[in-house]
Amino acid sequence: MQTRKMRLLLSCLLLTTAAMTVPAATSSAATMNSQTNAQPWGDRQLSPDQRAELLLRAMTVEEKKLLVFGYFGSPMKDKGYFPPEEARMGSAGYVPGIARLGIPPQWLTDAGVGVATQRDSLAPYRERTSLPAGIATAATWNPALAEKGGAMIGKEARASGFNVMLAGGINLVREPRNGRNFEYGGEDPLLAGIMVGAQIKGIQSNNIISTIKHFALNAQETGRFVLNAKIDEAGARMSDLLAFEIAMEKGEPASVMCAYNRYNGPYACESDFLLNRVLKQDWGYKGYVMSDWGAVHSTAPAANAGLDQQSGYIFDKKQFFGAELLGAALKDGSIPMERLDDMNRRILHALFATGAMDNPVEIAPIDMGAHAIITQADAEEGIVLLKNEGNLLPLAASAKRIAVIGGYADKGVLSGGGSSTVFGPGGNPVPGLGPQHFPGPVVFHASAPLNAIAKRAGKDQVRFDPGTDPAAAAALAAESDLVILFANQWTGEAMDFSLTLPDGQEGLIQAVAKANKNVVVVLQTGGPVLMPWLDQVPAVLEAWYPGTRGGEAIARVLYGEIDASGRLPVTFPQSLDQLPRPVLDGTDKKQDEPFDVTYQEGAAVGYKWFDREGHKPLFPFGHGLSYTTFEYGDLKASATPDGLRISARVTNTGSRHGQAVPQLYVGPAASGWEAPKRLAGFQKLALAPGESKQVEVTVDPRLLATYDVAGRAWNIAAGDYQVHLARSATDIVSSVPVTLAASRLSAVKGQQ
Ligand code: GLC
Repeated sequence: MQTRKMRLLLSCLLLTTAAMTVPAATSSAATMNSQTNAQPWGDRQLSPDQRAELLLRAMTVEEKKLLVFGYFGSPMKDKGYFPPEEARMGSAGYVPGIARLGIPPQWLTDAGVGVATQRDSLAPYRERTSLPAGIATAATWNPALAEKGGAMIGKEARASGFNVMLAGGINLVREPRNGRNFEYGGEDPLLAGIMVGAQIKGIQSNNIISTIKHFALNAQETGRFVLNAKIDEAGARMSDLLAFEIAMEKGEPASVMCAYNRYNGPYACESDFLLNRVLKQDWGYKGYVMSDWGAVHSTAPAANAGLDQQSGYIFDKKQFFGAELLGAALKDGSIPMERLDDMNRRILHALFATGAMDNPVEIAPIDMGAHAIITQADAEEGIVLLKNEGNLLPLAASAKRIAVIGGYADKGVLSGGGSSTVFGPGGNPVPGLGPQHFPGPVVFHASAPLNAIAKRAGKDQVRFDPGTDPAAAAALAAESDLVILFANQWTGEAMDFSLTLPDGQEGLIQAVAKANKNVVVVLQTGGPVLMPWLDQVPAVLEAWYPGTRGGEAIARVLYGEIDASGRLPVTFPQSLDQLPRPVLDGTDKKQDEPFDVTYQEGAAVGYKWFDREGHKPLFPFGHGLSYTTFEYGDLKASATPDGLRISARVTNTGSRHGQAVPQLYVGPAASGWEAPKRLAGFQKLALAPGESKQVEVTVDPRLLATYDVAGRAWNIAAGDYQVHLARSATDIVSSVPVTLAASRLSAVKGQQ
């Protein structure tokens, strides 16, 4: 008891003095245990701020220079580069620790679906659990699942010896052809912010650091190192930046990764506006900004703009934050010592705030069985039933003479390419596909849908055709009762893709549909695709990249063992002409030739653009069919002192258990926003037959406001608004009017 009282006394003492100086160990502190006395930052009663301050004071300048410079964690033989000994082989990054002070090394792993392995010849691929793609988790509209999935992959990261996980991809889907859409949370800032924020929270529950990335406007891969993203500030604040802001409030990522691209001129990793003004001043961010791998272009300009750590050296042209260049900048004063202190303070704050400092990582066994259940649950709820004419689905257990065609469905399920690729248990069942170098190879997970289907229908009732010869596939279809046709589009980092299914799959679908009218198309894509064959098939499922238990997840939804409860987090366009930029910018540029991408749509991303322009999508944001039916009603909206409260009632009017995703949209009765309406709330409701539940939402005031650049504030205009209860962005069930008073919310945290 005495010791505890002493601790409290000391912390009260520190509370009053922390801002000025850090008192030397006082005589009363002498009774503290020797560790705290020798290392007062070891006192866990103190706040992360206080501990970081105490530790910072004990560091030498040389040690402060160590912490802000990170190495790529894998060899690059063509550059003659080998990482420091202590790096985890095949990893993304490594920052040396300072044993004298108890600061652990930072071991960094990619990424958002699990523990990835970099492609190098020296390290055996780590076989780890892969969640379904980020866009699939977003399609669950279930933050609890996202958090659980994050907790699982964070646990595998810790058990693999990593204390930094480069997850939290949240760039809004402005460009449906972006090769990395599969890593992100869709097109809406509220949905993406809630879902990615939940995953980050789960990851960090393992006492490790998660990033959020790529800050900001990294919306396409073509020219990602050189393009200049141009967008008005209000438009950015109400879209991409709002997604980051919401996710950071929900998940409190200890690190932010700045993007490769330029943002209204400066590189994002040298953007005083993004890093100092928005992130650190307006949002009061206390963590640290790490660069993307190869995203650093200077020493003083980058550091003074708010970059705190250079990541993944060997990808940059120079060791900009290395001891020599950093030392010279400190010497000539172009980087003030206080800035170096702040860079370190932020990194130390992250290590303390997440518990990574107090809980050193250790290699540990992984319960792959338990983790398989988690990834499968996520995949199942992310699968979107796009079309189900004649209720062809769910399949009866008695369904016989089933043809399974294409998509390597006899081997496994597809995953996305690039730095986030996880190599699943059992290795890649389809080796040798796609580019053999980064972002390839194409990796499948050994979870074959064919096996999962055969388990239900009986092996003798299922036949497989690879789909490489449409005539042969059509012949099999002609002698089958039912066809389940898998159509894949691999996408990956550093590339953008057309929206057309590749490898003649459109022709395959058309040939098979001519031969059999009972065709279910199962898409495995990283985002929207065009479907010229849609009218020729009765049923379509979007399974995205469904992770290391994807085959089982697909079968469970096909057979109705679980309701189809995914809803689109992204608009599927009917044609490229409907997009703000029908022609992808930069495709006509030479390698490294700079170019602008002007986001004239501003905050009108996705469905907002389609609403504003009056375009009818192929499938709208929020769309997804269920195997049961739901009645939506009793919509109420009231303006209260804490904002706008909305409620509604959902009843399962069918005979099967199901999950509804009532969506609430709001828009001004007159115009004045970037688009007619915005998603203002949602909830995923599991309902038994006949069961009813309330959905209750208090709307974030920023979603009712427009951003006032001059006033650095969110302004809600007085007037009449419409509140909509909907099944999707184009399927509004009912609407009610509500009148809001004018109000203003400062964009600067802590200010009125
Ligand atoms: C990549 C990606 C980033 C990843 C990093 C480390 O180029 O842009 O998302 O975390 O490098 O692999």
